[in-house]
Amino acid sequence: MKTAVYPGSFDPITNGHVDIITRGLKIFDKIIVLIAHNPEKKSLFPVEERMEMIREVIKEHEKDHQRVKVDYAPGLLVDYVRNSGANVILKGLRAVSDFEYEFQMTLINRRLNRDIETVFLMTGFRWFFISSSIVKEAASLGGSVKGMVPDIVYQRLQQKYGFSAS
Ligand code: COA
Repeated sequence: MKTAVYPGSFDPITNGHVDIITRGLKIFDKIIVLIAHNPEKKSLFPVEERMEMIREVIKEHEKDHQRVKVDYAPGLLVDYVRNSGANVILKGLRAVSDFEYEFQMTLINRRLNRDIETVFLMTGFRWFFISSSIVKEAASLGGSVKGMVPDIVYQRLQQKYGFSAS
């Protein structure tokens, strides 16, 4: 049984993330979507709400939703991966600008645990320009982010920022 851990801040989950999960399920038997701690970021949604949104989205979008688990870990990613019995980290790669950071992360993770490999899927071109921050910025200024995020997330952003549905 091949299990991959897909880590991120998921603040909030976007359609780009959903695309990676869907395609990852063609390769792995099980995917653990892990909300991990990025000390560089201040979050909009509390961890519990992010987990709840991911669970709802996966249940709605994935006929294979039983093969997806959602979890949270405040510590080192490689420790979580080892303790969960997985040995693969799954990540999406969008633009060249992602590469340097992801390369550094992959190398430090490998230095910390040589048994864990990182596998990258290229982000679908429809989601190339999307990030959680850009979605939050657009929503906060009243821009429509419909189609960039799952409907459940759209509704939560609407509640947070009070924009009208369009
Ligand atoms: N589609 C759309 N957007 C995507 C995407 C995709 N396929 N893949 C990534 N993104 C977006 C994310 O939403 C994120 O947007 P944001 O910066 O606006 O929040 C951005 O691209 C960067 O994603 P990522 O590189 O995955 O960063 P992250 O903050 O989501 O996750 C952690 C980083 C949590 C995985 C990392 O900090 C970590 O591993 N923390 C645990 C501690 C640790 O072990 N650190 C490493 C060793 S010191």
